[in-house]
Amino acid sequence: MNQPKRYLITSALPYANGLKHVGHLAGAYIPADIYVRYLRAQKRDVVFVCGSDEHGTAIPIQAKKEGTTPQAIIDKYHEAMKQDFEDLDISFDIYHRTSSPLHHETASEFFTKLNDAGELETKETEQYFDEEASTFLADRYIKGTCPNCGSDRAFGDQCETCGRTLSPDELINPVSTLSGKVPVKKKTTHWYLPLGKHEQFLRDWILEQHKDDWRATVTGQCKAWIDGGLQSRAVTRDLDWGVKVPVQGADGKVLYVWFDAPIGYISATKQWAADNGKDWKPYWEDKDTKLVHFVGKDNIVFHCIIFPVMLKLHGNILPENVPANEFLNLEGDKMSTSRNWKLDMRDYINDFVKKPAGPNGENGGGQMVDALRYYLTAIAPETKDSEFTWKGFQTAYRSELTDIFGNFVNRTFVLMHKLCSGKVPKLHMDILDDNDKLLIADIEGTKAEVQSALEHYRFRDALFQVIDLARKGNQYMQKKEPWIKAKLATSNGPESVEAQKSIDNCLHLCLQLTANLAVLINPFLPSTARKMLYMMKVVEKMLDWENAGKINLLSVGYSLREPQLLFRKIEEEEITAQIEKLKNGLVKETASNKDTIAGGQASGGGVQLNQLTTEPVNKPQIQYDDFAKLELKAGTVTACVKVPKADKLLQLEVDLGTEKRTIVSGIAQHYTPEEMLGKQVIVVTNLAPRKMKGIESQGMILTAEDNNGKLQLLKPENPVSPGSNVS
Ligand code: 2FM
Ligand code: ZN
Repeated sequence: MNQPKRYLITSALPYANGLKHVGHLAGAYIPADIYVRYLRAQKRDVVFVCGSDEHGTAIPIQAKKEGTTPQAIIDKYHEAMKQDFEDLDISFDIYHRTSSPLHHETASEFFTKLNDAGELETKETEQYFDEEASTFLADRYIKGTCPNCGSDRAFGDQCETCGRTLSPDELINPVSTLSGKVPVKKKTTHWYLPLGKHEQFLRDWILEQHKDDWRATVTGQCKAWIDGGLQSRAVTRDLDWGVKVPVQGADGKVLYVWFDAPIGYISATKQWAADNGKDWKPYWEDKDTKLVHFVGKDNIVFHCIIFPVMLKLHGNILPENVPANEFLNLEGDKMSTSRNWKLDMRDYINDFVKKPAGPNGENGGGQMVDALRYYLTAIAPETKDSEFTWKGFQTAYRSELTDIFGNFVNRTFVLMHKLCSGKVPKLHMDILDDNDKLLIADIEGTKAEVQSALEHYRFRDALFQVIDLARKGNQYMQKKEPWIKAKLATSNGPESVEAQKSIDNCLHLCLQLTANLAVLINPFLPSTARKMLYMMKVVEKMLDWENAGKINLLSVGYSLREPQLLFRKIEEEEITAQIEKLKNGLVKETASNKDTIAGGQASGGGVQLNQLTTEPVNKPQIQYDDFAKLELKAGTVTACVKVPKADKLLQLEVDLGTEKRTIVSGIAQHYTPEEMLGKQVIVVTNLAPRKMKGIESQGMILTAEDNNGKLQLLKPENPVSPGSNVS
């Protein structure tokens, strides 16, 4: 797409059924906010919309849990989530809600247009019904075993463990989450979106047109879905909570939450336009609008397949990109609401952003918002799941943000006050040396690097480039040694004039670099950028993107303020307190809390350790006896096939010398069945058998993940006899 006329940026609408955690923040909100702030700094026409997703079975289920009404639940969590986003500087132009009359009208109109045009089908089918609760069991009212990964915590709409989108009929051993009873089948009529009719459109649009510019994780998931056969999707439900189906005689039926929620992006835009005297239509109808959806990997199918088909049929534009993130884990484990293994945005805000002032009146505030924004961007799960660890947070904050970025800015200001009377010194072109020239080239070149990374949704890389520029500033200063030159400059000797000129050049360039760093860091760490503006005594306009790469941002002779530390120290105790809090709050999984809704992350993962460092996650220490419980043997693969309807699973037959075992392994995206044949593998042979996709897996094979996220088989260096012990 050429330069678009306008941008419409969306972040997944979070369910108003509970507070959201940092996994959500890293997945769909921080990257979108960075992108939007970058576009705003370029003076582009951009609208950033979000809001609460207030329908679906998740809401009445939460109401039941809290002993209140669905309305009270959405009111409570809508306000709470809105506040959390504001506190973390997520700069939506509007944070709307799908319970609003405007949204109900918009969603009804959308459905009616598709239905009137004959684009929806109606079908009478038999669906699960809870006789005790006297209700049909849609979505999260029913749970069972996932046919894809074998987890027993799959809901009727999605598996919590593998993220697979499901329908109640696919669940193995389904039970009602309302009564715990096994449901019966009962006839009901619903409206369906016949996705199969749009297969060619989806193949052309996603797998051809966007094969190079969408993330491989996104197109990969779409391809698997399309190849798996596009079934008609029901877009209505037998429920009393949601947007009523706008058809006579459809009493007791509402639109499926995943039909109405994405239309929430449109109703939010309408509300924003009404509030600001604008026309909403071009944002959804004009082909010169660039629409980008920021979501987590569990939302890919809805934003890349189902909603685009709806948009096409309704006559709207399609998204240009859906840069979905993978998941963010926490201290070595999946984030989970039911097990309370998570870091809620609200807890971080209370513990770091709004905590009472310290001895120097310092309470973190914006710095601590930026600390979190920094770390979550540095470890953003862009290409694969990544890991939040408190030690990683502490290390990244200290060794990258404070020691590189903060330190450079502080040194520059301190030296400028000490050696140049607090004024911007001259740049003496006649004595420009190679170090000066290299720094100027780095300042100019970094803009292009950061810009390219941002345009391609590589936020980690973009941030890395900014920190790297600060790192180069430190190296430059180290080479120029203005503190040594200062002795010469005051010596009255013959070299004093040259020495002062060298100091001037060094600090002039360091100040221009500081101004550049403010422009470049602004999309990521807005509070830090503002503090730098204050120190430089310049107005907000300096943060315009067009200023990046320039070395004349601060005028010679201009006097600047005294430095303030950009980042406070995070005390060791603050980190250990968080680790303790997490461990102490862990709720052991029980049959009852398994039923609660953990929710996906609308978020996402990939750690490139060559860039911004994170610490490896360590599991707790174990004794030799714990290890000795494992029985590990070498085996040889004698047969291998793909498991039908499971993207990730291969079924292997492994020869262990005295016996052959069937093993189901999640390596189908890394090895073909042909590649596996004859390979030696290491098998955990005393693991309790587990059914996956109806096949009993009698062991597990061991792999290691390489830097590209590919699983590599662990195997003996040289072939050994099948059944050899591994120790
Ligand atoms: O996964 C979720 O949290 C959903 N509430 C996201 C909806 S995004 C959009 F379609 F509204
Ligand atoms: Zn699953």
